[in-house]
Amino acid sequence: MRPDLTVRLGSWEAPNPVLTAAGCAGTGRELAPFCDLSRIGAVTTKSVMIEPRAGNPMPRMAETPSGMVSALGLQGPGIDVLVQRDLPWLVSQGARAIVSLAGSGPQEYSELAHRLDGLSICAVEVNLSCVNPASQGRRFAHEPAEAAAVVRAVRDATAGDVPVFAKLAVDGVDLRELAEACVTAGADGLSLINTVRGLAVNIDTRRLAVAGGSEQGGLSGPAIRPIALAAVHDVHATVPDVPIIGMGGVRSGTDVMEFMLAGASAVAVGTAIVHDPGAGERILREFTEGLERRGIERAADLVGAAHGGNE
Ligand SMILES: Cc1cc2nc3c(=O)[nH]c(=O)nc-3n(C[C@H](O)[C@H](O)[C@H](O)COP(=O)(O)O)c2cc1C
Repeated sequence: MRPDLTVRLGSWEAPNPVLTAAGCAGTGRELAPFCDLSRIGAVTTKSVMIEPRAGNPMPRMAETPSGMVSALGLQGPGIDVLVQRDLPWLVSQGARAIVSLAGSGPQEYSELAHRLDGLSICAVEVNLSCVNPASQGRRFAHEPAEAAAVVRAVRDATAGDVPVFAKLAVDGVDLRELAEACVTAGADGLSLINTVRGLAVNIDTRRLAVAGGSEQGGLSGPAIRPIALAAVHDVHATVPDVPIIGMGGVRSGTDVMEFMLAGASAVAVGTAIVHDPGAGERILREFTEGLERRGIERAADLVGAAHGGNE
């Protein structure tokens, strides 16, 4: 019998737990020739800001032996293009969209959320790794109170039936405290994790291999998977009823199971898609076959099962 793949992400029931991670699938167009976007759980769009943004100078990505260091600098065409061009296109493909927001303060995040009002989206993801200009260049996610203010602004500006996920990073934070602050501020779920601070150096140019500067490089891919799993495990133990979208180095159906057993309700694929744009569908197929082989009837039964008596 085909297993039940549905998973609950707050008020939204996703048809399956395999999503794309913000930034790695653009707004889906690049993937469409390689992946049936209507089959994966959802496409998470690249974090969008109000205004168009050029991003960091090139080069923006460097390969390392176990992942990628990138510093894109939130390049993108801005919210108007997302609303008028990209979201209607995603809907026309039968895809489900999660929209990732990036801003410079609660006001900008709130305005972005308002602009999504009435549109056909499944969830909003609040990228809290943006630099907070009012806090000596620290990121919203570095200060629980600042993160909470952003989450509250987005929750207030978003229709009640659209879940709001707060996306956290692990660098220099007490993740449990941060997660609790976001949930108290109204987050319906948490997305874990963003890239981990990292650096690559080009020995020929004698320059940093990504031009964004040492503060901006982020490591993604297989190297961060154990870090991401620990984050998901810890946060699920802290707020067991809050759905988590887990991500960090997911490359196979087995990885999806690991994340779900650690406490994720769904899993997003990022860097693997940069290398293989068909990875989402392949990983979903592997995950489904893995459930069938093990006689697991409901994907949702995996969530948090590695916590023993916690579920
Ligand atoms: C090229 C690239 C662009 C990214 N852009 C965004 C973004 O716009 N917003 C965001 O919240 N995360 C962004 N991320 C982080 C990913 O969504 C994800 O959290 C992280 O890469 C870990 O997953 P992975 O190891 O599967 O890539 C980006 C990552 C990469 C590699």
